[in-house]
Amino acid sequence: MSSVSEVTARELFAPLGPTYDRYARLLSFGQDPRWRRFLVSRVPRTAGRVLDVATGTAAVAIELAKGAPGRTVVGLDQSPEMLAAGRARVERAGLADRIELRQGRAESLPFAEGEFDALTFTYLLRYVDDPLATMCELARVVRPGGVVAMLEFDVPRGVWRPLWELYVRVGLPLAGAVVSPAWREVGGFLGPSIRAFHERVSLEQLWRDAGLDAVRARRLSLGGGVVVWGIRP
Ligand SMILES: C[S@@+](CC[C@H](N)C(=O)[O-])C[C@H]1O[C@@H](n2cnc3c(N)ncnc32)[C@H](O)[C@@H]1O
Repeated sequence: MSSVSEVTARELFAPLGPTYDRYARLLSFGQDPRWRRFLVSRVPRTAGRVLDVATGTAAVAIELAKGAPGRTVVGLDQSPEMLAAGRARVERAGLADRIELRQGRAESLPFAEGEFDALTFTYLLRYVDDPLATMCELARVVRPGGVVAMLEFDVPRGVWRPLWELYVRVGLPLAGAVVSPAWREVGGFLGPSIRAFHERVSLEQLWRDAGLDAVRARRLSLGGGVVVWGIRP
C-alpha cells in the first residue's frame, strides 16, 4: 500500500512539471538557482558517477553534469510528470548522453551498495515518513569516501523570522493563487511543511545518526535555505 507522504507528494507535484522551473525560481525570490550551485560545488569534480534523488525537473542533475566533463548523472524521482519535464530540459541542454532519468523512490533505491561516487538530493526529507531510514538508504548507494549533499528550505532566525512568517503565511499563498490552483496548494503547504519539519528534525544530528562523517551545514540567504554535506565512511 502507498504511504501517506507518497500519495501527498505525488498529488502535489503531478500538475507542476511544465511550470515548475519558472515559478519555483520566482517564489524563492530568485535564490533557488544560487542554492543549487552551492550544493553542486560540494561534490568533488572527480566524482564521475553521481546520483541526484528527488531530481524533479533535473535542475541539479544538469548542474552536476555541466560541473565536470565526462561525469554521468542518474536523476531519480517518484513523479512521472516531473520527470517528463526533466527529460525535455535535459534534451534542450544537450546532455541526454550523460544524464539518465529514472522513476523510483528514495526509500528503496534500485541500486547496489556503493554504486555512486557521490549523491545529492533537494527538498526531499520533508516528504518521507522516516527521514532517518531514508538517509541510511541514500548513504547505502554511495561508495566509502563519497560525498552526500542536500539542499532544503530552512527557517530564518532572529529578526528575519517574523518576515519569513509573513511571507509564508500571506505572500506565498497569495502569489501561488495568482499562478494556478496547483500552485496555490503549494503556496499554502510550504510554510507549515518547512516549519513542522525543522521542529521535528535536527538536520546535522540526523545525518550523524545515519552514519555520515564530517557533517557540515551552510545556511544561505539569511537562513532561507540550508545545504548539508558529509562523507560516507
Ligand atoms: C520540490 S521538488 C524538487 C525538485 C528538484 N530537486 C529541484 O531542486 O527543483 C521535490 C521532488 O521530490 C520528489 N519526491 C518527493 N518524495 C519523493 C520520494 N519519496 N522519492 C523520490 N522522489 C520524491 C517529488 O516528486 C518532487 O519532484
